[in-house]
Amino acid sequence: MDVRFSGFGPAKDGLLIVGATEGGKLLPQAEAADKASGGAISAAAKRNRFTGAKGQVVDIAGLAGGRVALVGLGKADAIDALGGEVVGGSVITRFLVSGETKLVFALDVSAEVAGHVALAAVLRAYRFDKYRTKLKTEQKPSVTAIEVQTADVAGLKKLWKAHEATIDGVTFTRDLVTEPANIIYPQTFADRCVALKKLGVTVEVLGEKELTKLGMGALLGVGQGSRKETKLVVMQWKGGAAKEAPIALVGKGVTFDTGGISLKPGDGMWDMKWDMGGAGAVAGAMMTLATRKAKANVVGVLGLVENMPDGDAQRPGDIVTSMSGQTIEVWNTDAEGRLVLADALWYTQDRFKPKYMVNLATLTGAIMISLGTDIAGLFSNDDTLSAALTEAGKGVGEELWRLPLSETLDRALDSACADMKNITGNRFGGSIVGAMFLQRFVNGTKWAHLDIAGVAWSGKARHIHPEGATGFGVRLLDRFVKSVAEG
Ligand code: BES
Ligand code: MN
Ligand code: ZN
Repeated sequence: MDVRFSGFGPAKDGLLIVGATEGGKLLPQAEAADKASGGAISAAAKRNRFTGAKGQVVDIAGLAGGRVALVGLGKADAIDALGGEVVGGSVITRFLVSGETKLVFALDVSAEVAGHVALAAVLRAYRFDKYRTKLKTEQKPSVTAIEVQTADVAGLKKLWKAHEATIDGVTFTRDLVTEPANIIYPQTFADRCVALKKLGVTVEVLGEKELTKLGMGALLGVGQGSRKETKLVVMQWKGGAAKEAPIALVGKGVTFDTGGISLKPGDGMWDMKWDMGGAGAVAGAMMTLATRKAKANVVGVLGLVENMPDGDAQRPGDIVTSMSGQTIEVWNTDAEGRLVLADALWYTQDRFKPKYMVNLATLTGAIMISLGTDIAGLFSNDDTLSAALTEAGKGVGEELWRLPLSETLDRALDSACADMKNITGNRFGGSIVGAMFLQRFVNGTKWAHLDIAGVAWSGKARHIHPEGATGFGVRLLDRFVKSVAEG
C-alpha cells in the first residue's frame, strides 16, 4: 500500500473520506464537502440512518465532484488511537475491492489518530493470495494508495516511520502463520529469520547436532517422529547499552502439530499449521524492533519443530531428559508445546540472564474455553512484569487476562517414574497446568507466559485483520519493550 500525507484541502483524485461525530455532526472537512455538493452528504447521512457511531460508513457515489464517504468517529470527546483504528479498518473493509484505487482521508482528528486510521487500513487490507489462481478482477483489491490529510504533515510523517515498522513485523508474522506446513517447516522458518540479518539482527540457527550437545532432550523428543530437522533460532537485537541485560522473547514454533502418537482427530487438524504462532509473533516483533531501531537489547529464541508420528516417534510413557537436567515422562505426545518451551526457556535464561523472559505459545485448547478467542491468557511469577504486559496489550488492542499459578496443579504433574509428567491425566485447569509445567523450567527469572491459542488465528475478520492470521503479539511485544526498556 502506498501511503502519503498532505495538508487539508480539496483532493485531486481518489475517494474522499470525511468524518462526523456521534449525533451525526459533520466535522469541518465534511461540512466543506457537503457545501460543495449542494448538501448531498448531509442528505445521504439522513437517508442512511447515519448516527456517527464509530466506524459507520455511508458511501455517496455519483456526485458531480466525485465519490465521497462519510465515516462515524464516535463520541467527539473520546476519539483516540484505537478508535481511529476502528475507523480506518471499517473504511478499508468497505472499499478494498470496490474498484476505487485511492482513498483520501480528510478527518478532522489529531495527527496521532490519523496515523492510526492509516495503520489500521493497511493492516486490515492484508491479503494472502499467493495460492489463488482463479481470482476474478472484481475479487482483487483495487485500493493501492491511501492519502491522509492532516494539519501536521511533518509530525505524522515521523509517527508513520514507527507504524511502518509495525506493519512490516505484523505482515511478516501473518505470512509465516498462514503458510501451510509443507512450505513452512523448521528449516524454512529459520531461513526467513536469517533474512532479518539485513536489518542488523544477529541470527544463529542451531540444528539437531548442536541441540543434542546442549542436552535438549525435551525439544528433540518432539521432533523425533518427523523427517524435518528440529531447529532452535536465536536472534539478538542490540539497540541498548552494551551491558544492559536483554528482554528475552521465546516462541513455541511447532510448524505442524499432528499430536504425534497421541494423534489428534482429523477434523480441524488443518488448524495445526498455525501452531507456530508464538514463534511467528516473536520473529515479527524482532523485525519491528530492528526496523524502528529500538533502543533496547532484545533476544528472540524460537523452538522450531514438527510433531509427527512415524516409527521413530516418541511414545506415551517415554522419559526424556531436558537441558535443565530434569526428566519428563511424556504421557501425552500432544502436550508438546511445553516440551519445546522447557528447553527453549532454560537455554534462554542460562545464556542471556534476561531482565524479563516472556514466552508466547499456542499452548492449550483450554484457554479458548476460559477466555474465548479475543483475549489471551497471561501467567506470570512477577506482578510488575504482568502489569507492564497487560498495559502494553491494552494500548494496542491486544488484550491479556491474567490467570493464577497453582501449587496444587503443579503437584499434579509429579510422576511415579520421573521428575514430572507432561500432563496431569485429567482435564482440570488445563491452561494453568501448562503454565505450571513451564514454570518448572524457569530458574528465578522474572517470567511471563502468554497462551495465544485463542487469538493467533481468527475465524472472522475484525477491523484490524481479515479472517486468518492476526499477528497477535507483535504490537504488544513492541509496546512492551518500548515501555520497559526504552525509558
Ligand atoms: N497446539 C495445541 C493447542 C491448540 C489447540 C492450539 C487448538 C490452537 C488451537 C497443543 O499442542 C495441544 O495439543 N494441547 C493439548 C494439551 C493436552 C494434551 C493436555 C490440548 O489443548 O488439548
Ligand atoms: Mn499438541
Ligand atoms: Zn501444539
